[in-house]
Amino acid sequence: MNHPILAGKKGIIFGALDEQSIAWQVALSAYQAGAQFTLTNAPVAIRMGNINGLAQTCKTIVIAADVTNTEDLEKLLQESSQFLGGKIDFILHAVGMSPNIRKKRVYTDLDYSYYLKTIDISAISLHKLLQTAWKLDALSAQSSIVALSYIAAQKAIPFYNDMAEAKATLESIVRSFGYYYGKKNGTRINSVSQSPTPTSAGNGIENFNQLYKNAEEVAPLGNADAKSCADFCITLFSDYTRMITMQNIYHDGGYSQMGSFI
Ligand SMILES: NC(=O)c1ccc[n+]([C@@H]2O[C@H](COP(=O)([O-])OP(=O)(O)OC[C@H]3O[C@@H](n4cnc5c(N)ncnc54)[C@H](O)[C@@H]3O)[C@@H](O)[C@H]2O)c1
Repeated sequence: MNHPILAGKKGIIFGALDEQSIAWQVALSAYQAGAQFTLTNAPVAIRMGNINGLAQTCKTIVIAADVTNTEDLEKLLQESSQFLGGKIDFILHAVGMSPNIRKKRVYTDLDYSYYLKTIDISAISLHKLLQTAWKLDALSAQSSIVALSYIAAQKAIPFYNDMAEAKATLESIVRSFGYYYGKKNGTRINSVSQSPTPTSAGNGIENFNQLYKNAEEVAPLGNADAKSCADFCITLFSDYTRMITMQNIYHDGGYSQMGSFI
């Protein structure tokens, strides 16, 4: 797919850690679609991963930001606008992390300080980003924000742990801030509820392989991969979807609509 539907658009892409990352594929697709953007991730992820290589490919820069820190977000938005030469037209929020999952704390034995961190990093960060951008008036009219979610926001998915609450909160912020931004300047905010995808975050979930295989069998189209998710995100950043906002859109090969399967 090589249509320049994002020509002239300026964006920020959060969450590219390595080639498996959904955000990595979004960056490659956005570049192919003619967009200019900056890349960002937490300082430790920039040191561990190869985001600088991706930046070279996409002829851009990397700006470090911990997504829970509003000063970092302010600096990110200002430096991105400076580098890109104007207000921001699109943002991908592809950030998720649960210290409970990392430390193998099961849902019936959560550490509550980790729980708060999960929600802060994976959900409230979207609010922090949008509120910081609001105060700086950093988003252009009719800009488009996309956050990545998962069906555990609606249905009990064993082993997704406290990330389920994080995704439910994330999707609620999409709706609530979608109202205020729509009224303010026509900015659209949507979440994409993606199939299980073998990434660093995905593989960290207990029994991920079983979850992946089950969804692959149930979904009539099979699981959506990172590249197809990226291509879908590009359409949401484009003007072709200019009247879609405050939605949670399943990008899962039909999995979410199945009752039983044969
Ligand atoms: N992999 C899946 O199965 C799947 C399914 C549905 C939705 N998602 C969502 O997609 C998004 C991207 O995840 P992914 O699967 O590509 O995995 P990933 O591990 O490649 O990406 C997660 C990113 O979050 C970043 N991050 C974590 N803490 C941060 C912080 N404090 N500040 C800034 N960045 C931080 C990581 O560095 C990483 O780049 C996440 O929101 C995830 O929940 C993933």
